[in-house]
Amino acid sequence: MKIVSIIGARPQFIKAAVVSKALEKYDDVEEILVHTGQHYDENMSKVFFDELEIRKPDYNLEVGSGSHAFQTGMMMIKIEEVLIKEKPDWVLVYGDTNSTIAGSLAAAKLHIKIAHVEAGLRSFNMLMPEEVNRILTDRISTVLFAPTKNAINLLAREGIKDNVVFSGDVMFDSILHYQNLASEKKNLADIIDLEKYYLGTIHRAENTDDKARLTSIFEAFSQLDLPIVIPLHPRTKKLIAEINYSDNVKIIDPVGYLEMILLLKNSTKVLTDSGGLQKEAYFLKKPCVTLRDETEWIETLEGNWNFIVGADKNLILEKIKVSDFGEQSDAFGSGKAGEAIARFLVQ
Ligand code: UD1
Ligand code: UDP
Repeated sequence: MKIVSIIGARPQFIKAAVVSKALEKYDDVEEILVHTGQHYDENMSKVFFDELEIRKPDYNLEVGSGSHAFQTGMMMIKIEEVLIKEKPDWVLVYGDTNSTIAGSLAAAKLHIKIAHVEAGLRSFNMLMPEEVNRILTDRISTVLFAPTKNAINLLAREGIKDNVVFSGDVMFDSILHYQNLASEKKNLADIIDLEKYYLGTIHRAENTDDKARLTSIFEAFSQLDLPIVIPLHPRTKKLIAEINYSDNVKIIDPVGYLEMILLLKNSTKVLTDSGGLQKEAYFLKKPCVTLRDETEWIETLEGNWNFIVGADKNLILEKIKVSDFGEQSDAFGSGKAGEAIARFLVQ
């Protein structure tokens, strides 16, 4: 059996590392790895291949940055060429990025079966490019791997009930696998010289492309009771030159996955608009405030582990103080999502 996996953005390298390792256990599976080139800086791409021991992609399409239509269109053209040449049984796509929708659309038109990892997530905000990408990908996928029961229910509400498989969340597998390795292989002192700090990330278009929101968020960061360490996405880095913030805000370059886990493990709390980091904070029992107006990961909201605060300065400063937390659920599976996905595909 031949599987073409399409990846391109930072969180997809992490998710694909889990599934690829599970697929490697099957002798009769050939996986062709296609990197669209959506992320290309060394600290947004290569560092993940090195640290997570992901093999070199068979194809790097080097599409790079651009407008949505340009980026997605270029990816589709180049992915189509690969699919025509490789003739896979399956195309495997992850999450909700432009690489995901490009891979899905190219495959659907060639009548190649599509497997969508992290299917069924919804924010109900159609202004988000990710929401458009995942709704369309789910609609044309042959098999939908849902990370949570809530995702299954959301798909059912859209009439998608067949070929939906509860797999659990591959990012939970990933953190279980790499969390000890992070402490063994990396030193916090090599990354920052702080003992107590909050960890922050910010890169979502709804925050970066709205100066009032970005200003309000950085005002809140400036007034936190502890320093906040922010490995800053290049998208945001280009915009913060025009934003005022205090010395409380410690901006560093994006870090590799192992460094990120170490930063998270040693942090007091997390402030983020990242989907992946909200969950990782939950997995490692770090309280989180989410700098968005909605979350797809509603399970993390139970027990005060995560609060939706948008870009509201006062709400950010209020919710970061919450100190009573409830039980956590096992909503994200048992850490064997990668194996479940591989097993289903090869059956
Ligand atoms: C993309 C995904 C988003 C995901 C994020 C993960 C889409 C629509 N969005 O957003 O869902 O949360 O990846 O990080 O697919 N840039 C660089 N170097 C890089 C990559 C990007 O400088 O290696 C800069 C470029 O100026 C680029 C901008 O960041 O225009 C945005 O990159 P892009 O891949 O378009 O979207 P992300 O914001 O990374
Ligand atoms: N991450 C990382 N280095 C960083 C910032 C994030 O390794 O400097 C990891 C983070 O721990 C998580 C993933 O990247 O595993 C999330 O990616 P991102 O926030 O870019 O995308 P999202 O999950 O919002 O789509």
